[in-house]
Amino acid sequence: MPLPAHLTLHQGELHFEGVSLERLAREHGTPLFVYSKAAILQALAAYQRGLAGRQQLICYAMKANSSLAILQTLVRAGCGLDIVSGGELERALTAGCAPERIIFSGVGKTRAEMRRALEVGIGCFNVESRAELDVLDEVARALGQRARVSIRVNPDVDPKTHPYISTGLKGNKFGIAHGEVLQTYRHAAACAGLEVVGIDCHIGSQITETAPYLDAMDRVLDLVAAIEATGIRLHHVDFGGGLGIDYNGDAPPAADALWPQLLAKLDARGYGDRTVMIEPGRSLVGNAGVCLTEVLYTKPGEHKNFLIVDAAMNDLPRPAMYQAFHRIEPVRPRGGDAPVWDVVGPVCESGDWIGRDRALAVQPGDLLAVLSAGAYCMSMASNYNTRGRAAEVLVDGDDATVIRQREGAADQMRLETLLG
Ligand code: LLP
Repeated sequence: MPLPAHLTLHQGELHFEGVSLERLAREHGTPLFVYSKAAILQALAAYQRGLAGRQQLICYAMKANSSLAILQTLVRAGCGLDIVSGGELERALTAGCAPERIIFSGVGKTRAEMRRALEVGIGCFNVESRAELDVLDEVARALGQRARVSIRVNPDVDPKTHPYISTGLKGNKFGIAHGEVLQTYRHAAACAGLEVVGIDCHIGSQITETAPYLDAMDRVLDLVAAIEATGIRLHHVDFGGGLGIDYNGDAPPAADALWPQLLAKLDARGYGDRTVMIEPGRSLVGNAGVCLTEVLYTKPGEHKNFLIVDAAMNDLPRPAMYQAFHRIEPVRPRGGDAPVWDVVGPVCESGDWIGRDRALAVQPGDLLAVLSAGAYCMSMASNYNTRGRAAEVLVDGDDATVIRQREGAADQMRLETLLG
């Protein structure tokens, strides 16, 4: 199977761009996340081509990977940011994102988060319920402001992905139900503290088919027509994120193939003049990252052979949480026997596995690269078992920069207090 972009086997050893992964692991230790700047920019360029010639704003959904240097990379290349918490807002500002290019998504924004976002002047709140609209109205009026809002609609289409990451179906907690959209818009338009500017949807994540997007676009445009018939003008249509990546032979549409099809629908319905916004996360960074881990022990058994590595579910939570598949490749492939292993971490849980039934020729001390680890790995990492979070390196050509140091035990205990 081909390797993700900018990851190559060079002189018998995996490299990201011009940098040897073995060298990075020896210098900085493992587990270690390594990202390729070129791969991130290449993924972004596909969206930029797909939306070329439009009034558009690509707001990177920073929950996928919120490390400051990753945000800087995308912001400097022209992205705005999609945030979901006050913490993400502070990261976005620290990374140099212009406040008006920040949009605030999520079902549970607190008053304090709303206030801070209004004070710094973010571009738009993506509102998910009538109750949230009322609170935002109140907070904005107290500040003597009008909050720009978009209402997240639930188009009720099946994105055909894992149930935990599908969000546009009737049974989900997300968005305003199709049937309640009009009355919610009318209500918002009547609130003195709100300025209605757009409509948004997000149907799920790791979507690998085109049809759910086309269906959702049709349903959203039906709503745009109905909303505008009431005299409310929508300046932007935000289509969310969700485009999948190739984890294991998956074949999602390319962003520059998908978007022209969606834009054609917009044009056909007479909305080609609206600003198009999107919130991609995984598809910008997922395949631009790997996690390097060292084989600690081999533990052959009667029923299963276990390969115990130094990365665990606290570093790579996706297999434990979603039974997700990540390819695992030796950093320096060796010949010989390749027994079948379950690759597991040191955490004291049976759910702490990284890959199951993988044929690998390895010995203790060897390095493995867990692929497609740029999205929803570091940003979901925890300190379970008081394991420090991994270090991160960004590769750019032949250069490698440590963008986050490894977390130590003292870092983890810093905010705690011993009893006297
Ligand atoms: N916009 C909204 C409103 C979202 O909820 C999300 C992701 C995105 C954009 C970005 O979606 P993306 O382009 O990354 O698919 N932790 C899970 C994925 C959770 C996605 C949550 N929402 C995983 O590891 O698969």
